[in-house]
Amino acid sequence: MSDAPLNGQQFLFHPSEFPSFDDLPAEPGIKQFDRPIWTDNKAHFIMRYLRYFVFITKHGTYIDGFAGPQEESMCDSWAARLVLESEPRWMRHFHLCDAKRSQVNLLKQIKESHSPCQYSRNIEIYHGDFNKKVADILAGGDITEKEATFCLLDQRTFECHWSTVEKLARFKTAGHKIELFYFRDDWTKLRQMSRDERRDVLVSRFKREIGYQSVKAWPIYERDNGGAVMYYMIHATDHPEAPKLMARAYRNSVSPLEPIEQLKLELGFETLGGQ
Ligand SMILES: C[S@@+](CC[C@H](N)C(=O)[O-])C[C@H]1O[C@@H](n2cnc3c(N)ncnc32)[C@H](O)[C@@H]1O
Repeated sequence: MSDAPLNGQQFLFHPSEFPSFDDLPAEPGIKQFDRPIWTDNKAHFIMRYLRYFVFITKHGTYIDGFAGPQEESMCDSWAARLVLESEPRWMRHFHLCDAKRSQVNLLKQIKESHSPCQYSRNIEIYHGDFNKKVADILAGGDITEKEATFCLLDQRTFECHWSTVEKLARFKTAGHKIELFYFRDDWTKLRQMSRDERRDVLVSRFKREIGYQSVKAWPIYERDNGGAVMYYMIHATDHPEAPKLMARAYRNSVSPLEPIEQLKLELGFETLGGQ
């Protein structure tokens, strides 16, 4: 990893911006988790959360800004593929973007191999820089004020500009903002702060600058490295139930899927309406 100074865009925050959290909305409490998520099962964590999400919303739009598979292979740990195949298939709109031609070809393959289901779905593939394509996706008409929308930003360092995060978060003007799941693994570059401070400042920025009600950092561990935290996935949401669903997904992501009937009983048929 380079020690070169980072430019203005690369610094999402500066140590001097490290205010206390006293004036921010209190986080909903969640149960402590005792099973770590390894980097090789993070896609199952995402898919499990979206299974719960769609079970409650009964509809939804999934945006994946950096959607090509990590290993450039049709593997079992590819988030876009797992989400497309997840049951029940109530997520109706998919917007999958990647900058690399070979990755876009793989996205087209999963679109073509996608088995038809009883619900109509549209799967749009975009080739290009997500920071530019995001405007087309938002303008496309799928994301109405009431459309429950989740956006995965599985980037490595600075590929996703902060202005892109802001566009997504500010798109809806009523109801709940688009939910975001944002990755950062550049923690060691900002050496002025400890890892926990860097995590907390980023969380604070999502709350303070964009106004999400809940922002939680979920640790993803590197199994090969004796279980050290490899990076955090930041979940930003306005819905009070969503952090509890995320905690449940984190706990269960490597367990067998709960049957639909069990989810009906445990999650009920309440709605995350107004998203
Ligand atoms: C870490 S991988 C995504 C992993 C994937 N979510 C999975 O579950 O396996 C990041 C992807 O982002 C793509 N990418 C990098 N910069 C990009 C940009 N500016 N816009 C869109 N895609 C980009 C890369 O080609 C790569 O396929």
